[in-house]
Amino acid sequence: MSFRRSRFVFLCVEDEAVFDLAALLQGALQEELRPVLKVLSPFQAERAHISLEEAQFLLDLPSDRWLATQDEASGVPPVPQEAMDRFVQMGLVITDRDEADEARFRQWEEDLWRCQWHPDAVVYHAMTRLSGPSDGEGFDVREVSSQAEDMATAYVERVGPPPPTYLSFDAAADFPLPTSVASGGIFDLLLARKTVRTFDRQQALSLEPLATLLKYTFGAFGHARLAPGLDLLHKTSPSGGSLHPIEAFPLILNVQGVASGFYHYNIRDHAFSPLVTMEPEAARSFAQKMANGQLFVGEAQAVVVLVARFFRNQWKYRRTARTYSVMLMDAGHLSQVFYLVAQELGLGAFYTGAVNSSLIEETLSLNPAEFGVIGLCGCGIASPAAVDPDAGGLPFRPMPSE
Ligand SMILES: Cc1cc2nc3c(=O)[nH]c(=O)nc-3n(C[C@H](O)[C@H](O)[C@H](O)COP(=O)(O)O)c2cc1C
Repeated sequence: MSFRRSRFVFLCVEDEAVFDLAALLQGALQEELRPVLKVLSPFQAERAHISLEEAQFLLDLPSDRWLATQDEASGVPPVPQEAMDRFVQMGLVITDRDEADEARFRQWEEDLWRCQWHPDAVVYHAMTRLSGPSDGEGFDVREVSSQAEDMATAYVERVGPPPPTYLSFDAAADFPLPTSVASGGIFDLLLARKTVRTFDRQQALSLEPLATLLKYTFGAFGHARLAPGLDLLHKTSPSGGSLHPIEAFPLILNVQGVASGFYHYNIRDHAFSPLVTMEPEAARSFAQKMANGQLFVGEAQAVVVLVARFFRNQWKYRRTARTYSVMLMDAGHLSQVFYLVAQELGLGAFYTGAVNSSLIEETLSLNPAEFGVIGLCGCGIASPAAVDPDAGGLPFRPMPSE
């Protein structure tokens, strides 16, 4: 076997609570914090204890060349087989073997390097993409919001008061601004925008409004060729470097004339590329599962998964930590445009950030070094309850007048 260190090994010091044994023997339950060394595996989204000797072993291994066997590795201290096996399992040591996970981690590690990931972004992205309960019963956020006030009161009692709602500096130095009341067009749309979580499951959405929503949220309306193959785009949202790395993958649940399942929205041709066909009920339950059990997500007529194409931006902003967060910001802009266009079309819309990214990426066969799920937008025919301003959602009231 040949092996080398992964280029993405992260060590950290954490405080772990342990019981004071001496105090325990005297009948007292006393907890103390002990600093421990841990190693993070981006491939397993896992953190594990590591001894100083084991860390030293990793430090002594090269990442840019293969060692033929452990014994032949000049200057490499021996490491117990058990630790070596663990490192291989976690993808901290990359091997040339064809075992399933070892080959997968080797490819993944090489792709991360090729796609110009900065290590800081790898830690954050990789450690957070496996998330949430995906096999549970699911939960209804609308029920949660009906108990919101009781839950909030209990929470405040437990953790203490929240930071103030309004940020204020030297109030005595504040001076008033001209009264500004705008109406019509975009202003009405902005004031009407809200999250809708109650949809009429019985009705199918027609394709026209969905196509319009996709086009005016994700479609390109201009392009500039800067070099062969390098086209910058102009869309209804701004984008860092005009690169527009966020792609839309609609999961169709109940749309007239379109089989349920996953599609890619091809913006060049304004077309759907079929990817995964699902039975209607299977598509609904997948929608709930991919949103970590949020039941309302499966009741919409269509859900659009926002996927970042990391290398599109990292090709330009190479191995730069900030590039990752700029792509997240792009997704936020698209979400707001989605809400506003849906509002104009008379559709209900929502956004959710609580998603099981790895589940969706696997279902769509996306290479996790190149693509990543950021969140999802959903839309559909709002049920009468959602249209009633006093039903569902948070009990928002108008602000006091100026
Ligand atoms: C980044 C982001 C993440 C969100 N995640 C969720 C979510 O996981 N589940 C959910 O029901 N709503 C989610 N929302 C919607 C908010 O809960 C919603 O915007 C908020 O309650 C205010 O309601 P409004 O949109 O009607 O003003 C998210 C919104 C944003 C911007």
